[in-house]
Amino acid sequence: MPDRRIVVVYDTKEGHTRSIAKHIAERVHAAGFEARVFEASAPPVNLDGAAGVIVGGSIHVGKHGKHLVRFAKTYREQLERAPAAFFSVSLAATRTDAEHQAEAARLVNEFEQATGWRPELTACFAGALPYSKYNFLVRFIMRRISKKEGGDTDTSRDYVCTRWDEVDAFTDSLLGRVRS
Ligand SMILES: Cc1cc2nc3c(=O)[nH]c(=O)nc-3n(C[C@H](O)[C@H](O)[C@H](O)COP(=O)(O)O)c2cc1C
Repeated sequence: MPDRRIVVVYDTKEGHTRSIAKHIAERVHAAGFEARVFEASAPPVNLDGAAGVIVGGSIHVGKHGKHLVRFAKTYREQLERAPAAFFSVSLAATRTDAEHQAEAARLVNEFEQATGWRPELTACFAGALPYSKYNFLVRFIMRRISKKEGGDTDTSRDYVCTRWDEVDAFTDSLLGRVRS
């Protein structure tokens, strides 16, 4: 019986990438696979024999988190053995113009340079703007950045900018590689 295990590893600061990882896990499960979700900061993760691996993390101040970088460096060989995909979560990816898309792609490229892992499939997902989770200073700064970018500025509520159909298409694409 072949291993039907898809491992999803995520790194998050405010929790949104965890929500994306859980969404991916639900889709994986609905497709008839077994989904195992882990936080990158909590190894060891057993990737041996996994049918596929999906790794993702968010951007803060122009970088992916150090736990995610460490995870990809540590598990690079296993990640290269299985069909594996990487997703990056940022506000840059919220905007669909060429400049912001290039910025989001550059951050993925920097992650690849830092870890030495070249995932066969990558995606940049629009993140969230959870004003209620920020302290006063972060809320103030994030509102200013969002305003400058023409984004959401009502700090009395939280925003989720993720286009879930893109997350589903990315998941299906990895599962297609696993099946073939
Ligand atoms: C302090 C801070 C710095 C951030 N820096 C960036 C950044 O440099 N580029 C970007 O595109 N998004 C940036 N973001 C937006 C996050 O990537 C976005 O909110 C994402 O959804 C966070 O995901 P998480 O909840 O999984 O950590 C920043 C957010 C915060 C709070």
